This record gives sequence, structure tokens and C-alpha cells, in this order.
Amino acid sequence: MTEINNPRLFLRRSNTSSNLNGVPSATKFGTISDDRTPRKSGFQSFLNNDGIDQMKPEPKKASSSISLSDQWAGSLQQMTKLNEPVDEESNAALEGLVKKSQTALSSLSLTESSGKRYRKKIIDHPRVASYAFAFDIDGVIKNGPQTIPYAREAMRMLNGDNKYRILVPYIFVTNGGGNPESERAKDLSKRLDCEINEEQIIQGHTPMKSLASLYKNVLVVGGVGDTCRKIAEGYGFENVYIPLDVMYWNPAVSPYYTLSEEEKKICKKDVNFSKTKIDAILVFADSRNWAADEQIILELLLSKGGYMGTVSKNYNQGPALYFAHSDFIWSTDYKLSRYGMGALQVSIAALYKETTGKELKVTRFGKPQRGTFKFAKKVLSNWRRDVLEEYVEVLAEIPDGEDEDAVTKRLAKSINMGPMKKKCSSRRGSNTSMSSTESDESGDSDEGLTFRVMNAIGRQIPQPSTVYFVGDTPDSDIRFANSHDESWYSILVKTGVYQEGTVPKYQPKKIEDNVLEAVKFAIRREAKGIG
Ligand code: G3P
Ligand code: MG
Repeated sequence: MTEINNPRLFLRRSNTSSNLNGVPSATKFGTISDDRTPRKSGFQSFLNNDGIDQMKPEPKKASSSISLSDQWAGSLQQMTKLNEPVDEESNAALEGLVKKSQTALSSLSLTESSGKRYRKKIIDHPRVASYAFAFDIDGVIKNGPQTIPYAREAMRMLNGDNKYRILVPYIFVTNGGGNPESERAKDLSKRLDCEINEEQIIQGHTPMKSLASLYKNVLVVGGVGDTCRKIAEGYGFENVYIPLDVMYWNPAVSPYYTLSEEEKKICKKDVNFSKTKIDAILVFADSRNWAADEQIILELLLSKGGYMGTVSKNYNQGPALYFAHSDFIWSTDYKLSRYGMGALQVSIAALYKETTGKELKVTRFGKPQRGTFKFAKKVLSNWRRDVLEEYVEVLAEIPDGEDEDAVTKRLAKSINMGPMKKKCSSRRGSNTSMSSTESDESGDSDEGLTFRVMNAIGRQIPQPSTVYFVGDTPDSDIRFANSHDESWYSILVKTGVYQEGTVPKYQPKKIEDNVLEAVKFAIRREAKGIG
């Protein structure tokens, strides 16, 4: 083993995995050694990729790089030119809106002349970008309790504090979890000093909400205390059990663990697990007690129909097993990367194979899985629509006849995403609903005009021209951004799992030092009209 001067490099480089050229890649585990031998062919990882590496990303669809708000204003102007009022009652208000949008757009020519690239440098009015961002959290925004210092300024820029006066919609896609999305939003708001809405957040377990109607009794694993039980109940699961309930029922299940009085308080006490069928096991968050959790998970997997204390003949009658993500390692405030939920998966798969001779069947969520990608696209689409609606609402509130400067100032203020966002969220409900795509059922008269206008220009807002995905882990983040849709643009940062001087196993389109540099790069790139 050589002596390495840079401790972070030493600690995070890999000695176990390699890219196609046999160059060591950056993402496996901790130490670096002279012996950087690539893995022998025939090595079989327990972490199946679900064929993601063989997937072809969807080709980039034609989309406009005119800002979203200008596209909207253009449609509005078009609509009134064609004399197609939204409805009788809204006519006057609509005319006012058109005037204001014309003021806001006075420096802009909306024609995208024959095939020529739209020149953004002529635009300086506040507007909503046609492009968007999605951020990983651990290793990009924070490392454990420490917020990465560049993150605040990055968000400020996206919230409109940039020389182009552009508001860029963004969401977060983390494999982390263990708290409700609303809590995560509160935590991020504090860290980032701006309002982050729960509808901007996808955690590893968020798309697992879609399983709620499939299973009656589920065992939810991971997280602190019974928080994950509460999250699952919030997602609509009917009967949610946690490993502590099983240990309360029969302490001998995990011989070396004694429940504390605190733990006993949160247990469901009236459940006989030898008579209660567990239909599915959902690993929501990192296990706090691997030994006990593994005992219980494996026992159920081998059981006759999901009843504790039974063993099936062919080991094929156990409950379905789901993992919220498969990150083998992740970035915290410790100098070494830490084993994550993927490592628990490996461990269970190895034990299962040792016992049964069979491969473990797992359904995986999180990055880089396709299901999570589709979910993220929906959440981003909803969020872009919310941001645009807010922009329109601000425009509607501007008194008629206000001069261009005042209009500009008011729009700029809206760009700070103030309390209006709360209005949007209470109206729309939680992002965790897979079906919460584009429908607005509100009867709120204040918002009637906006809805009618938005509906008139189409319920589907245009595709983002580019989605910049900023992550620190090549295996999950870069693979996620590269594998599913060509309009996603992967940016790898150096503040987490990936460390400079190593070769990422999955090649990003761009490497930047940190999240702020990533944001600056993308805004510049878009302003030059490259996006
Ligand atoms: O457990 C969380 C971790 O594996 C990764 O979180 O935000 O980097 O996707 P994130
Ligand atoms: Mg990360």
C-alpha cells in the first residue's frame, strides 16, 4: 500500500472496480492501493443493474429554448389575436394580462426565425427558464449534518439572482429517505435559506407509494424509531409493521438484541406474527440494526407465505422484497464513504444464496432505476407548471398601466419564490401521488383566471429544453441522468463520493468542483444558446 498524501483521495478511491479500460474507477469503496487490478471476469455482483446499462435513452424531443414564461405569453398573445377568449367573464382581465405580458416582453421578439438559434442575450426581463435542474442531495447539497457551503448561492442563482434574471425550476432526487418529504423540505429550506417545497422532493421511497394498493400487510425496514411506519401510512399502506413489532412479539427472533423501553413504546403490541401474513417487505431507509433486520427479512423470505416461524419447501413462497435504492456507498461528513442500503442488499443476497443456492429477487427503486426516472419527470413537470402559474399570478396582480420598470420589479420579486409557493402546494396536494400530473380541481375564485388561462394554453406544459442533473455518485447519479432521456445532462461534482484524480465508472457530460460551479456552468451554457 502506498502512502497517499491527500487523505480524501486515499480514503475514497477504489481498489476494487474498474472501467472498461481497466482504469480504476472512483465509486466502490474507501482505500486505494498499488494493486489496482481490475475485477476478474466472471465476478458477479449481487447488485443487479436491472439492465440499465443496456438501455437506450429516449432521443431528445424537439423543444423550444425560449423561456417557459415567454412561450406562455406568446400563446396568450396568439390566443387573443385569434379572438378566442378563455371565457366571457375573464375577458377584461385577460386583456390586462396580455398588456402586462407585452410590457414584460417588450425587449423580446418571440419569433424563432427559420431554424436559427434563439439569441437569449437580447432578453433581460425576469422570466421562467425553459430548462430545469434536478439535484442529488448527499454529497451535493450536504454531507451528513454539514451543508456544503456552495449550495446556498447555487439556489439563490436559480431563484433569479443572476445577471440574466432567469428563474430556473428545480427539484431534488435523492436516494436518501427516512423522513417524510415535508420534513426533508423543511430541513432543506433551512440549509439553503430559501423555501423548498415538499413537491420538489423525491426520496428513494417516494415512488413506493404506488405499491400501497397492492399489499395489505407490509414490513417496513429502516430509519429511526417508527418514522418509516408513519411515512408508509401517509402513503396509504393499510397495515404497516416494523422489525421492532416482530421483536416485541417474540424477543427470541433476534437473540442478541433487547428492546429498550423507548422502543417498546412505539411497538404494535397485539400482533401475532405467526398468524399475520406479511405480503411485502419494503426497505425504506438505511437499517439501524442490520443484525436484527437481516434475521427478520431472511426469515420472511424463506417462510411459507410470509408467516414468521415457518419455512417453505422451495423458498419460493416468501413476500416480495423492495428496496428504496441500491447505493453501495454514500457520502457523509466522515472522511470515508459509508456503506449504504445497497450493501445491506448485497449482504442479504449473499446470505440468501448461501442458504438456498438461489438468486435473491429484488425490486429496486431510487436512482438509477427507470421507475424513479419516470416519477422524477412527472414531478418536474408539475413543479415547472407551478412555477409558471406563480409567475402568471404575479403578472395578474400588477395594476393596469404600471410602467415597464415596475412590472419588471414585481416579476423579479415573484422570482424569489415567496409565500405563493405554499398556495400552490396546498392546492395541488402531495407530489407523492403518481397520478398528480396535470389536473387542477380547485374552485378557488382568486385563482380562476390563472387556471383558465393555463388550461386554455394546454394542460401539458412544454418539455424542458434540458434538465441538468447534478450528482456526486457515478453509479447512481450519472447513470441515472445518462440512461433514460437524452435531454438530461449529467454533471458530476467533487464534493461527495466521486474524487478528483479517479476515473468515474459512468462518464458525466461535465465535471465541476461543486454545485455552484455546476449551476453557473449551466446558466452560462444556456445563455449562450447552447442548451
Ligand atoms: O442513503 C442515502 C444515500 O445513499 C444517497 O443519497 O442524496 O446522494 O442520493 P443521495
Ligand atoms: Mg449523492
